[in-house]
Amino acid sequence: MSYGRIEHHPVLGPLPPAATLSFSFDGNNYKAREGESVAAALLANGVRTLRLHEEHGSPRGIYCNIGHCMECRVTISGITGVRSCLTQVKNGMDVRSGTVLPSPFRQTTEAERSPSL
Ligand code: FES
Repeated sequence: MSYGRIEHHPVLGPLPPAATLSFSFDGNNYKAREGESVAAALLANGVRTLRLHEEHGSPRGIYCNIGHCMECRVTISGITGVRSCLTQVKNGMDVRSGTVLPSPFRQTTEAERSPSL
């Protein structure tokens, strides 16, 4: 039994056997099934917060789970902005929570809005 992973579906039946992989998230070690996405593997291990919101710092996690919303961005092997819902876990993968990225939106000053000519 594991948190968040349906091991016996009432219609689809039991999960087929799969190799167990090891990976880390923010320095903690976890197990995944071969073929699982990083997001699914983390959810199965009870990890729901994948990054923090750029402006508010609120926890973010899986939202669409199909690669559209970008809410699940993490850093994998030093590459930032990787969508964890589209990335399969590899053995020994080093995953870090998404860093707080600069917002594309920022407050402009009055001088920027009305430059003197
Ligand atoms: S959860 Fe939406 S892109 Fe990954």
